[in-house]
Amino acid sequence: MLCLTPMAILTIHTAPDPVLKQKALPVPAVDDRVRQLLDDMLETMYAAKGIGLAAPQVGISERVLVIDLNPGEDTQDKKIYKIINPEITWVSDEDSRYEEGCLSVPTHYADVVRPASVKVKYLDETGAVQELSAEGLLATCIQHEIDHLDGILFIDHISALKRNIILRKLLKTRQNLESAD
Ligand code: NI
Repeated sequence: MLCLTPMAILTIHTAPDPVLKQKALPVPAVDDRVRQLLDDMLETMYAAKGIGLAAPQVGISERVLVIDLNPGEDTQDKKIYKIINPEITWVSDEDSRYEEGCLSVPTHYADVVRPASVKVKYLDETGAVQELSAEGLLATCIQHEIDHLDGILFIDHISALKRNIILRKLLKTRQNLESAD
């Protein structure tokens, strides 16, 4: 029986928090600290009903992300991605459009156009190099999460007008919450 540190639900930072605009640093070594972070991020993502989460969203400016496109389902093709120091090595010429949302931009959604397929090289939770070909929702999700590592939100892909409307609403919601405390 392994003695495991219990998982923890972390606080999700929302726009316009400055940590979301920082470029995150590569992880120097895949160790128990990083594996704990990955588990805590998964727990946090499931609790928030998301399908992807990047470390800057929990206030940690490191190049770590998790994805599970089918949370709560235990199907044969279910895959939980624990991704460290990812690099996009190829993108398709073909684009696709998805309506994206983000746990750091709660209650707002917008269509974003991105390459329809990508290849990504990364380290898994054992420190082994992996390469992944992604298409469809996985391609969109992984690009969205890698964007987080570079301080980019999905609202940075839409018009400044729409972005500013969303940011103003988020700020107002936060101020209302703070004044209610
Ligand atoms: Ni996001």
